[in-house]
Amino acid sequence: MDSAKLILQGKEYELPIIVGSEGEIGIDISKLRAQSGAITLDPGYGNTGSCLSSITFIDGEKGILQYRGYPIEELARGARFVEVCHLLIYGHLPSENELTQFRDQLIHHSMIHEDMKKLFEGYPPTVHPMAVLSSMISSMSAYYPNSGNGEDVDLNIIRLLAKAKTFAAFSYKKSIGQPYVYPRNDLSYPGDFIHMMFAVPAEPYEVPPVLEDALNLLLILHADHEQNCSTSTVRMVGSSQANLFASMAGGVNALWGALHGGANQKVIQMLQMIYDDNEDYKKYIELAKDKSSDFKLMGFGHRVYKNFDPRALILKESSDKVLEQLGVDDPLLEIGRNLERIALEDEYFIERKLYPNVDFYSGIIYRAMGLPTNMFTVMFALGRLPGWIAHWKEMSEDPHGRIYRPRQIYTGETKRSLKPIHMR
Ligand code: SDX
Repeated sequence: MDSAKLILQGKEYELPIIVGSEGEIGIDISKLRAQSGAITLDPGYGNTGSCLSSITFIDGEKGILQYRGYPIEELARGARFVEVCHLLIYGHLPSENELTQFRDQLIHHSMIHEDMKKLFEGYPPTVHPMAVLSSMISSMSAYYPNSGNGEDVDLNIIRLLAKAKTFAAFSYKKSIGQPYVYPRNDLSYPGDFIHMMFAVPAEPYEVPPVLEDALNLLLILHADHEQNCSTSTVRMVGSSQANLFASMAGGVNALWGALHGGANQKVIQMLQMIYDDNEDYKKYIELAKDKSSDFKLMGFGHRVYKNFDPRALILKESSDKVLEQLGVDDPLLEIGRNLERIALEDEYFIERKLYPNVDFYSGIIYRAMGLPTNMFTVMFALGRLPGWIAHWKEMSEDPHGRIYRPRQIYTGETKRSLKPIHMR
């Protein structure tokens, strides 16, 4: 089975088949238009592969997620986020020496240029931190102009990973009118972020291990997810040879949307709305099923997972432990569990294979950690950064790489002549 046959308007065309290392089958249509004049049409790209990639494998029917072959369950239990960054970007888990060097570089590049603080001052306190993150990352090309592919790539990757958490923490401090807390070289990646977020100059602050471990887990679970909307955006922007920072800013902006990374913020807002409405979660299940309402059960459903999102399962288990260790009793968690239980028994959700996704439980844990809701999608972006970088690097290094330029089927007016205005 090395080809597929297509019969179009009485003519037969043979199309090559590509089989991936996990047995996925792809029909190569890259010559279809030249041979037949026809293109394919696939709104939302649900059936279309844009590239070959060796970074992440997902099997939506079996609930499998692997980063460079390692199951997400094993990485979640046994790895540190910095190791997973190295794995995704460079294709292998670092040796002890490589990890020491990689970690040391991240530590020594976590400060931002003092002039970049002026950029923060230009925003109103109410600015959404995703707007700040996107513009700060884009502005990095002003401070590090050699950021195209092939130029200081490894150094710019370090700069981006190291400074993104500083941008995020500074945007939070600005929003609450507190002074910035600078990075510390003696803390881990998640620990340093937590310290920058919650320390105040007036008193010493010890990073609680439960927060550090919870954030390490959340960052690993969000680190990559093959060709999702934001990663495909990074590849799209990078395919024009836009620099690393410009490509990443595109990914941040795509992630911000409510149907993608913005969902974790919407989940909490939805649970709060249900809580405030006498905890009537059954009413909202019915609303989600009612086509005349535009209400969706945020945190439910997924384009790829049609069984369960393995990340949601891991987070469901850890949410109990984290809330207990933090001594947090969050009524929204109970509402979330009731929503999940009812939805998983309801024909509408079963028929459409709608299960809780990664965003359903992550917001509960971020909230228990004391993070404000409008920082949730920023946390998703910090986790996804190594995945975006890995895909940008893989795309940039592809010797056969081409600029992304899809086709369309035109449905507008056919050719017509311009009439002078008095004749229209
Ligand atoms: C992420 O791609 C990735 O990998 C993304 C991500 C990653 O790690 O990068 O996993 C992260 O973005 C997770 C998804 C977070 N978004 C949400 O939780 C928002 C709520 N979910 C939906 O908007 C939706 O499920 C999507 C966007 C996630 C998936 O959309 P699809 O694949 O286009 O599915 P669809 O909209 O065509 O839905 C199929 C049917 C429709 O009903 P019918 O027309 O068949 O009658 O299911 C219904 C939809 O109306 N449906 C829902 C629903 N999600 C889908 N109905 C109620 N509530 C929902 N949440």
